[in-house]
Amino acid sequence: MKYGIATLDDVEVGGKVVLCRVDINSPLDREHCGLRDTTRLQGCAPTVAELAERGARVVLLAHQGGDLEYHNYASTEPHAAVMAELIGRPVAFIDDVVGPAARARIGALKDGEVLLLDNVRFLAEELTLFETKLHLTAEQQSQCLTVRKLAPLGHIYVCDAFAAAHRSQPSLVGFEQVLPSAMGRLFEREYSALSHLREEPDRPCVFVLGGAKIQEAFPMMAAALRDGVVDTVLAAGLVANVMLVAQGVNLGAPSMDVVKANQLERFVDESRSILAEHGEKIVLPVDLAYAKDGVRAEVPVGDLPVDEPIVDIGHKTVEAFRRIIAAAGTVFVNGPAGVFERPESEFGTRSIWRAMADAPGYTAIGGGDSTAAMNAFGLGGRFSYVCTAGGAMVQFLSGKPMPVVEALRSAAARMGLAAGPRV
Ligand code: 3PG
Repeated sequence: MKYGIATLDDVEVGGKVVLCRVDINSPLDREHCGLRDTTRLQGCAPTVAELAERGARVVLLAHQGGDLEYHNYASTEPHAAVMAELIGRPVAFIDDVVGPAARARIGALKDGEVLLLDNVRFLAEELTLFETKLHLTAEQQSQCLTVRKLAPLGHIYVCDAFAAAHRSQPSLVGFEQVLPSAMGRLFEREYSALSHLREEPDRPCVFVLGGAKIQEAFPMMAAALRDGVVDTVLAAGLVANVMLVAQGVNLGAPSMDVVKANQLERFVDESRSILAEHGEKIVLPVDLAYAKDGVRAEVPVGDLPVDEPIVDIGHKTVEAFRRIIAAAGTVFVNGPAGVFERPESEFGTRSIWRAMADAPGYTAIGGGDSTAAMNAFGLGGRFSYVCTAGGAMVQFLSGKPMPVVEALRSAAARMGLAAGPRV
């Protein structure tokens, strides 16, 4: 038991049907029907391998894409071959989730065999829109089709989908209501690394917040400042732009339009109150880069506005950020400093990422764009911790409740695991 949740050490899985929810939602290469990045599969492969090696009949449930911001809503078929390679044993796939074919195939599984079901989000009840419209309780989720059809075939539920732990959907919180349940090894690792970051970071603790998803960055920044988790915030990307606007800086029409077009004005107001309360902990850029006809140019913040969109932080800012990162006990980065996919605007992100890779402190990186940048710069393996989650990590670091964590805890309590028996 860890964090009030059962681990794989608490359950006997040999000869049992284990329904294992993983998050292998990955960038797709549609042209070649393959996966462009397999980080998440690598993350949960140890759990799948361990279950199979211990003689479980493993049924993998997963989603690919979704209804909110993803355009990669697709079958999980390509994931089966990748997983098979990672765990060194066959992984069967069936293009069904809860229908008679899937159930018959589950019933025919032998000890040590692994079966991947198709995308659970092919069922409407697994959609995030369903979740955010209906607000079902975990108990109600257990009455949904996925759980009603599959739970009777399973003996144990294992959740290794930390990256989806912020979701309240049947395959994530429903099974815990009716089956003995545990977290997988990846879930355990992510939980422990993020708890360390939130509860006992080595000081000074620095957050580098950039990227375009400022709807996520702001609550995380506000909570980390409020709770005393972070000593210094280095603001980059759109986060910095919005904070500069809050200080009365006119960035120039193209960048101001981005703020308006994405309805980010409310974050300008929020920035004002964050800066008023915690201004001494926030470091904003002193210079920025813009691109004209694909050529990079830099401008001190005092000389703004410019007529081109801002695409990166400038050299002086990078230098200042580098010094702070080198002296930090902990550095966490979420969101690139600029448009790192283009040569004229990759400098800021590349330099900050390299500074973190060389830093003596504990370094953590999370979010899809941030890890993509890490891989693009060849810095994989140079950070202390790479989180496979995006939204879930942000929610955890914002101190908000995680439905899957709560469901796993209530399952452990029902299993009477405080007393220590293996089920
Ligand atoms: C993610 O990519 O963050 C997870 O797979 C969860 O996906 P979702 O945000 O579509 O629920």
